[in-house]
Amino acid sequence: MSDEWVKIAAPATTSNIGAGFDTFGLAIHEPYDIIEGRKIPSGLVISSIEGPGADTITRDPEKNSVTIAVAEVLKRCNADFGVEVKITKGIRPGSGMGSSGASAAGGAYLAHILTGETLPLNEVVLCAAKAEGFTSGTMHADNVAPCILGGFTIIRSYEPFEVLRIEPPKDLGLVVALPDVVVLTSEARKVLPEKVPINDLVYHVGHSTSLVYAMMTGDLALIGRSVGDVVFEPARKNLVPHLKEAEKAAMEHGAIVSFLGGSGPCVMAFYDKSTHKGEIIAESVKKVFNENGLKCDVWVTDCGTGCRRL
Ligand code: HSE
Repeated sequence: MSDEWVKIAAPATTSNIGAGFDTFGLAIHEPYDIIEGRKIPSGLVISSIEGPGADTITRDPEKNSVTIAVAEVLKRCNADFGVEVKITKGIRPGSGMGSSGASAAGGAYLAHILTGETLPLNEVVLCAAKAEGFTSGTMHADNVAPCILGGFTIIRSYEPFEVLRIEPPKDLGLVVALPDVVVLTSEARKVLPEKVPINDLVYHVGHSTSLVYAMMTGDLALIGRSVGDVVFEPARKNLVPHLKEAEKAAMEHGAIVSFLGGSGPCVMAFYDKSTHKGEIIAESVKKVFNENGLKCDVWVTDCGTGCRRL
């Protein structure tokens, strides 16, 4: 039994991206979680959890999304060994930056490497989505898909499961601002309406399809016009104090669009790297939260390539 440790970076992701609720996702270059693992004769063991929010994460392998995802991959591969893992969180839980998705995706990707990379990557994504579903209450793959595959991803269908990947335009820059507020996805889903009017459906179909077109053609201005949400962000906006002021500041300082990241509280801004400086946008958003008594972490970053071996 090889006891060689394998180390994986599992990046933050942003989901929904306006109109694509539970459908669109985008890998972010940083921050990321680090998941380390090695084969052991049998069973699953979590030997350490460190980093922001580590004290809130269970060490029970049957309830932790890393080990649930590992188990799912091992089962599909008929693996005859167990795995010991060490988890270092770089993305705090309750951030809207795909923290639980990164854990699930990192676990699935780690097990994929330990099992000799025999499963198709889409199946690895599905294993991670099941783990994400266990911990967040509903199976949604819009964070785990970009976390594993990188780039911009679309869940075409959950049943049967099919995911597509698009390479985002190279000049698309990202600013991520995380105010010191915790929003749990499970809570943020409780405030959503159960039904949507047809007019809102039409708005979302138009915006989501044109966002895909803009991503594929590299039209940054059209990306800006296509990120819109008249259902989910409006229902959640009260969960994130000063959200609208933060988005407005980002727009006034050069963003092409600014929106709620996933279920929040992080605020995302897209900008054109060839014409604008992300640092100026980041500072303006941070200032809104700071002036209202909230700490705020910011990252000026890029679209990411997904899970990778370190
Ligand atoms: N699509 C999910 C939601 C993502 O908005 O609830 C949660 O990160």
